[in-house]
Amino acid sequence: MAAKKLLLLPGDGIGPEAMAEVRKIIAYMNAELESDFSLEEGLVGGCAYDAHGKAISEADMAKALAADAVLFGAVGGPKWDTVPYDVRPEAGLLRLRKDMELFANLRPAICYPALADSSSLKKEIVEGLDILIVRELTGGVYFGEPKEIRDLGNGQKRGIDTQVYDTYEIERISGVAFELARTRANKVTSMEKRNVMMSGVLWNEVVTATHKAKYSDVKLEHMLADAGGMQLVRWPKQFDVIVTDNLFGDMLSDIAAMLTGSLGMLPSASLGAPDAKTGKRKALYEPVHGSAPDIAGTGAANPIAMIASFAMCLRYSFNMVAEADRLEAAIAGVLDDGLRTGDIMSEGKTKIGTVEMGDAILAKFRALA
Ligand code: NAI
Ligand code: MG
Repeated sequence: MAAKKLLLLPGDGIGPEAMAEVRKIIAYMNAELESDFSLEEGLVGGCAYDAHGKAISEADMAKALAADAVLFGAVGGPKWDTVPYDVRPEAGLLRLRKDMELFANLRPAICYPALADSSSLKKEIVEGLDILIVRELTGGVYFGEPKEIRDLGNGQKRGIDTQVYDTYEIERISGVAFELARTRANKVTSMEKRNVMMSGVLWNEVVTATHKAKYSDVKLEHMLADAGGMQLVRWPKQFDVIVTDNLFGDMLSDIAAMLTGSLGMLPSASLGAPDAKTGKRKALYEPVHGSAPDIAGTGAANPIAMIASFAMCLRYSFNMVAEADRLEAAIAGVLDDGLRTGDIMSEGKTKIGTVEMGDAILAKFRALA
């Protein structure tokens, strides 16, 4: 069997610190579980700009396109706040998303039992929560044309953004949601605003047609996106997979994230279309958090978001479901043992650093094997 090709792009700030903990897990899996990951490494973000003046080099872009999956840390920091706009650290991530055509952004919101007390919602509302938000990432109002500030000539200006969705974009994102639902609780809730937006009318139509044609075994429900936001806070456990557009998904996934605790806990995946020959999807996995310059270099960063992103990689890129389940169970187990990094620390728990957290998760992962 050909090796599983992973490209690691640790990036800036706490990115490399968190990635080092994933590297240990991969080394263990290669040495003792006969996994065959082959690792390449590249530069992205500020460190890439310092090295060669671009947020990602053509050579590293080529590696990303050739990899089975990309693991991305975080980019940016005050050091690069004044670099030109087109080579700013974020440009590296945007280039990856665009060139790899990563149109489906997966953001799970899982409430680890040990952290149910630290949610901003009541414990019974979030305990055991496990939902997945599938956000369309490459279309909609963030990209639609015209997009401009128009001078109206009468002392007024007009800011214009355009929400545009074509049939194929809605078909492919809803296809991802239905397929994922089949591996979970088999339910999809589609959210749009068909009451006031034409793109919402089309969204609703196409999701309904896609469901009828290929996924009628999955339970489908439609909800207006504003009502969806309300329901996410009122009773989030009613959802399994939520599929929505770029703008609503941006907000709804941030709301869902905060149901479950700290930024340092949240993983994400971004998937492209399956290759016509191999059926493999291009994919990039990254924590939701940024480079956390305020704690970078102090050894305090929580590596769980990065490690959980690798668990998503095992699940979605390599179909290593048992290993993904086990790695997620290891994270839950370490939290059950009362171990906490500073960002999730609470009274009576044991405060540890990045490396200790990584070691504890690896030890648990090994013990569960
Ligand atoms: P941030 O996510 O880096 O940090 C926000 C707050 O959360 C900070 O107090 C930080 O210490 C804390 N935090 C974040 N991740 C943590 C972790 N794993 N463990 C413990 N604490 C954690 O967001 P911020 O401060 O707005 O941005 C910092 C830099 O990161 C900026 O340059 C920004 O542009 C960049 N950024 C990059 C992203 C990416 O690479 N995808 C995403 C968001 C921001
Ligand atoms: Mg956001």
